[in-house]
Amino acid sequence: MSQEVLKIASLPGDGIGQEVVPAALRVMEAAASRFGFELEVETLPYGADHYLATGVTMPELEFERLPAQFDAIFLGGLGDPRVRGNVHARDILLGLRFRLDLYINYRPIRLWRESLCPLKGKGRQDVNFVVFRENTEGLYTNSGGRLRPGTAEEVATQEMICTRMGVERIIRAAFEHARDRGLRRVCLSDKANALTHVGGLWRETFAHVSREYPEVETRAEYIDALCMHLIRSPEQFDVIVTGNMFGDILTDLGAALQGGLGLAVSANRHPGRIGLYEPVHGTAPDIAGKGIANPLAAILTGALLFEHQGQRPAAEAIEVAVEAALEANETTPDLGGVLDMEGVTRAVLAHLR
Ligand code: NAD
Ligand code: IPM
Ligand code: MN
Repeated sequence: MSQEVLKIASLPGDGIGQEVVPAALRVMEAAASRFGFELEVETLPYGADHYLATGVTMPELEFERLPAQFDAIFLGGLGDPRVRGNVHARDILLGLRFRLDLYINYRPIRLWRESLCPLKGKGRQDVNFVVFRENTEGLYTNSGGRLRPGTAEEVATQEMICTRMGVERIIRAAFEHARDRGLRRVCLSDKANALTHVGGLWRETFAHVSREYPEVETRAEYIDALCMHLIRSPEQFDVIVTGNMFGDILTDLGAALQGGLGLAVSANRHPGRIGLYEPVHGTAPDIAGKGIANPLAAILTGALLFEHQGQRPAAEAIEVAVEAALEANETTPDLGGVLDMEGVTRAVLAHLR
């Protein structure tokens, strides 16, 4: 799958997305040239500024052009306090996930340096699991509505839609990943004790699919209990598969276990199709424009993109360079360091050479 030119659509978006994406692309360019391939990057302007200026979130045609013309999409983050209801973020980010049918939200949690873990006595081997978050249905379909808006009798509904096809394909992706990587354990997480309809569908499908993978140990945990287990003993988990909303929450918790959102990566995938790569963090309006955003989540997301595009050596080189920067305390304030984003980016580039 490895190729000479990798075509990337870069969508920095809003806030710190506009800062960390260019930083990550510098590191990716450096790694690519070291390993003998080229990046062809087109930067797309969509985000809050573009929306406020034009009234357009993302032109309809882009949803067809992106998969036709690029190998991967690299996104910073979307969300701006000036846009009411963040409609542009829904349209663009959730629009890409849904319309490209990127049903796997792959979110690996890995502790890159022991001292960054907030848990007492836990080391690098203890925090190393991956969340398979269902990415195209659940509570995110925007099915529902508001009746009698603005009145005392207003009713709002937001429906949790789970299909057998949707549940089955994400569960299967989790098991396939376990099989491919030789991981022993897959844990389902839901809230089947209270949400009995969708819970029933998830549990039955999990039991059904798991029979095809007799070598994998299975377990099911309610989402509330899983949050507790992950804090007390994250070493119990290799692969976690869950619905859209729970997966969103769980992966910010996971990010905290690895040192914070400044290190958490994700890939939105549908095997055989274009992937959308983004750090787990958002646009961080509280620090946007200050030059102190941690670029490592975006840089490591670039490594994940390379890995999925068959450029494993370049991906590993980036990871080794990030590890070296962390080891040398060449970090931004969120990780206890004194460098700004530019300083961290230069440190990673120096380790890469
Ligand atoms: P956030 O991830 O933007 O920020 C949460 C906290 O973590 C903030 O204190 C922030 O400063 C810090 N943080 C996040 N990333 C950091 C980094 N790289 N370096 C240093 N500190 C970092 O989440 P939020 O505050 O809940 O949301 C802000 C906006 O981002 C909202 O509009 C939200 O909808 C949007 N958002 C977008 C995405 C996305 O596009 N993928 C993801 C999450 C949130
Ligand atoms: C994430 C974000 C998004 C989500 C928001 C911005 C819609 O929190 O990617 O984790 O909920 O999926
Ligand atoms: Mn989130």
